[in-house]
Amino acid sequence: MKIYLDTANVNEIKEYVELGLCDGVTTNPSILAKEGKDITMAISAIAKIVSGPINVEPIATDFDGIIKEAEEYAKIGKNIVIKLPMIKEGLKAVGVLKKKKIMTSITLVFSPSQALIAAKAGADFVIPFVGRVDDGGAYGTEMVAQIAQIYSNYEIKTKILAASIRVPMHVIELALAGVDIVSVPKSVLETMIKHPYTDAGIKKFLEDWNKKKT
Ligand code: E4P
Repeated sequence: MKIYLDTANVNEIKEYVELGLCDGVTTNPSILAKEGKDITMAISAIAKIVSGPINVEPIATDFDGIIKEAEEYAKIGKNIVIKLPMIKEGLKAVGVLKKKKIMTSITLVFSPSQALIAAKAGADFVIPFVGRVDDGGAYGTEMVAQIAQIYSNYEIKTKILAASIRVPMHVIELALAGVDIVSVPKSVLETMIKHPYTDAGIKKFLEDWNKKKT
């Protein structure tokens, strides 16, 4: 399972690149707004340290506007993935960008039927939102497991990039379903790494070592 960082914060990304735990990055306009920088500058800074796919979402929702922004972002590097909303304009942009050899993901996916359409349109990645489905009272990881089953039934090449991950259990359930990629905020990754028994174990080993007879 590949792990992407769900952030545009260069320091967070740098730390996880150094840990060997950052296979790619996802951003969205809300995430980029938090960094308070020009989008091209922010993405260029990330591209200097990440060789895996970097998802960046145009602000435009009309077809011409989407293509114009996408072409600008694609100049940053071959690993830029244009993240398109699951609307007709986004689906249309997938095919056009594919001809220009620009990778695409379809985002804001909340159902298996949307995921089937995104794959049919030829997107390289589909981005189902686990946490936001949970927020709506449904079962986010179950929705992604259904997408995984459908893609497997038809040997669909589109990669599942599960996002809106809020807790480590989301990642575990997605891994059990065989999902290709999860995009995780730093806070969730930190929780996945830590365990109180690990800390207690280190403390006890040190205490015992310090008691040793010289
Ligand atoms: C990333 O691709 C998504 O935009 C992000 O994971 C959404 O997360 P949220 O639902 O916690 O805002």
